[in-house]
Amino acid sequence: MGNNFKQIYEKSIKNPEEFWQEISNDIFWFKKPTKILNKSNPPFYKWFEDGVTNTCYNAIDIHIDQGRGDKIALIYDSPITGDKKKFTYNELKKKVSRFSGALKNQGVKKGDRVIIYMPMIPEAVIAMLACGRIGAIHSVVFGGFASNELASRIDDSKAKLLVTASCGFEPGRVVEYKPLVDEALKLASHKPEKVILYQRSGQEVKLNAPKEISWDEALSNAKDENCVEMNANDFAYILYTSGTTGIPKGIVRDIGGHIVALKWTMKNIYNIETDDIWWSASDIGWIVGHSYIVYAPLFKGCTTILFEGKPVGTPDAGAFWKIISDYKVKSLFTAPTAFRAIKKEDPEGKFFSKYDLSSFKSLFLAGERADPDTIKWAEKLLKVPVIDHWWQTETSWAISSNCTGIEMQKTKYGSACKAVPGYDVQVLKNDNLIAKPNEMGDIVVKLPLPPGTFPTLWNADERYKKTYMSNYEGYYQTYDAGHIDDDGYIWIMSRTDDIINVAGHRLSTGAIEEVLSEHQSVAECAVLGIADKLKGQLPIGLVVLKSGVDKDNETISKECIKMVRDKIGPVAAFKIVIVIKRLPKTRSGKILRGTIRKIADKEDYKIPATIDDPKILDEIKNDLIKNNILK
Ligand code: COA
Ligand code: AMP
Repeated sequence: MGNNFKQIYEKSIKNPEEFWQEISNDIFWFKKPTKILNKSNPPFYKWFEDGVTNTCYNAIDIHIDQGRGDKIALIYDSPITGDKKKFTYNELKKKVSRFSGALKNQGVKKGDRVIIYMPMIPEAVIAMLACGRIGAIHSVVFGGFASNELASRIDDSKAKLLVTASCGFEPGRVVEYKPLVDEALKLASHKPEKVILYQRSGQEVKLNAPKEISWDEALSNAKDENCVEMNANDFAYILYTSGTTGIPKGIVRDIGGHIVALKWTMKNIYNIETDDIWWSASDIGWIVGHSYIVYAPLFKGCTTILFEGKPVGTPDAGAFWKIISDYKVKSLFTAPTAFRAIKKEDPEGKFFSKYDLSSFKSLFLAGERADPDTIKWAEKLLKVPVIDHWWQTETSWAISSNCTGIEMQKTKYGSACKAVPGYDVQVLKNDNLIAKPNEMGDIVVKLPLPPGTFPTLWNADERYKKTYMSNYEGYYQTYDAGHIDDDGYIWIMSRTDDIINVAGHRLSTGAIEEVLSEHQSVAECAVLGIADKLKGQLPIGLVVLKSGVDKDNETISKECIKMVRDKIGPVAAFKIVIVIKRLPKTRSGKILRGTIRKIADKEDYKIPATIDDPKILDEIKNDLIKNNILK
């Protein structure tokens, strides 16, 4: 295909079918596709529709067929428990095919949904791959979500079975999953038939047979299952992500395009070959974890690391350097917040100097905008390219990046580099006109999206069409705003909806507001994301009380914080609620969240012409000062 980035990019846009057909030859198919792209029903495009393949076969079996069964597929390292394990492709196949048998014994069939609510342990990866082996659709739920969120995912996916563990470990805290699962099962109107629970050593919990069985028990009478033949357009998984309301959106991934695109990215974006050691320090509950802890590195046949720890505090700010040095990691992918945490604890890089990082060749950052300070700090310390790249749960792989395996581009600090082959990225203005270079607007991608992106939402074709494909006909709306410069570099500046990004985690302020409004003393509220040096953004809540409430403000704040933690989960990092007298609104009653955020972040703001009462802005400013938000 040649190695000139411009040529490759242009070919992918001018002739996507030819481009992706060629690439699709690199994966295993039971039946090769002859129909590459079906464009007959936009915006519902179908890639490789008559192809037949299997996710798990491409992640494991193919490498064994090719004589690489003894190569290490997965390395697990938990600095919290001290556990370390390595699995070859042969060993992983044994574990996965046996657990597939266990799922089958519990009645799981092709197309059934399986919820996986687990910490970062190998069994979580095994469960994901086992679903793929027998054609079940997994839906992994991040461990930092509370029962309510788990329940809404059980209900929406109508899961047949739930796989969980007795606990997870957060620094200084054991996260007991069983009570969270019990509560979710109580809250959910759909009841999964079975729960399989992995008992972590020393943390065993009591199970209620016959509905609940332990992982070991489930394996005891299971036989190994082979990979079933799946249509390329069947779904591999559902991953729920924040929508603008409390109802999460079920992003689905179809099987064929997922394998083709993700395998291609490992060499072309990340410059990773089969003999390399790759590490993505994320969580399997997020898209980065799905794509780059589990699927892409295994499709490529390289070694991937599953790290049950944090950048700091497990035990210190040298945790990342230790993993890189112990396992000779070539490239690391993580969120900028992780590097800001390390920089904060160890600005001089004292821990760094203790380790041999000669294997290390590049650092990739995504999940939020990588601030130039952090990139420069990391570059100076690591002396390797530090690459900011932009993507979303919806796409599952980078929309823009420096494609280091094709041709290195120069770094522009603050930009997520150029559109990746496959993505025709444009900036549109409200009047639907294409923005000029450097002009701000909504960032969109011209349809069709490349393989591996989301063909629809789970059971919600209309919502897919309305939310993403309707505002600009013929384009996918990313809900990110920014500009493209004269050299084609993309600058992602902000979200255009109510999504905020807290430590690389995507949260909906609307969903938090929904929880606050349920407090019996709260008349109305606004939640906004204010700038935070460590986490990028932090949510704060402003609440106005109903008249006649006699509780003190501090009690109300505490109750509100607890409600959000209980309903959404600790991951929301929701710790600030301020009781105020009035919220600034337009004359038509719209709360001026954007203006409040600008005041809190000390940005310039104009008093909106439509404001009902401008004096309220001064009141808010005083409240923010009193509460140490504005200094
Ligand atoms: N299960 C249960 N709780 C979890 C959890 C999980 N899997 N992950 C996080 N939490 C909890 C934390 O314990 C914390 O709870 P607390 O309020 O009781 O302290 C809360 O959720 C917030 O967690 P976190 O965002 O991890 O913040 P932190 O202050 O503990 O750590 C960082 C800060 C920067 C170290 C951390 O955010 C980090 O490692 N970020 C990397 C982000 C990342 O990988 N993003 C993935 C997208 S690429
Ligand atoms: P998620 O779906 O959780 O991966 O979040 C996707 C959102 O995170 C994007 O729509 C952006 O708002 C933000 N994001 C991800 N990567 C970047 C990046 N490199 N630069 C700026 N924003 C980013």
